[in-house]
Amino acid sequence: MFDFLSTVNLKNQMFLEIGAGSGVISLLASKLGANVTATDINPEAIEATKGNSVLNNLQIKVLRSDLFESIEILAYDIIVLNPPYYPKTPKNNLEKAWYCGNNFDFFHRFFEKLNIYIHIKTKVFMVLSEDCDLSEISRIAQSYGFYFQLIDQKIIAWEMNYIYSIQIDNAN
Ligand SMILES: C[S@@+](CC[C@H](N)C(=O)[O-])C[C@H]1O[C@@H](n2cnc3c(N)ncnc32)[C@H](O)[C@@H]1O
Repeated sequence: MFDFLSTVNLKNQMFLEIGAGSGVISLLASKLGANVTATDINPEAIEATKGNSVLNNLQIKVLRSDLFESIEILAYDIIVLNPPYYPKTPKNNLEKAWYCGNNFDFFHRFFEKLNIYIHIKTKVFMVLSEDCDLSEISRIAQSYGFYFQLIDQKIIAWEMNYIYSIQIDNAN
């Protein structure tokens, strides 16, 4: 996502990251001129992103939110996420970095609300890997009226990583 974002025009774009972790993607987007809101469910991630934005002298809105729950309703220009994707219920905040819930709950909840935060030209980018259940995640997206378009792929630490653009399925 880091390399890919450098190829996207982010200047003055309203940019939302869900699950920002320590904030590297959001920091880069801010450096490239985007108006960034970085969110995460984990308070430690929020503190890390805040600290990193201060260290890098970047103005980023950092917000603790469980998916869209505390995010002001606004149509963003770009939404990015590198989600947890293993189907298991997380026992603590740390595990939320990897586990998306037994029934892929994270993805159901994300796609259920995504419509409210996009406009006709919004670009939504999601990182997934060969290690996740791509067909189930894409089936969930389809059930909410979205489909995945592969736009980039790269091997990172022996694992193929994909960047998908999430598109509105006009056939629905
Ligand atoms: C795989 S990590 C990605 C971190 C960072 N964006 C990166 O690319 O390195 C997934 C992130 O999603 C966050 N997360 C998990 N469940 C979430 C939820 N329901 N709402 C918001 N963030 C969540 C985790 O705390 C974690 O920081």
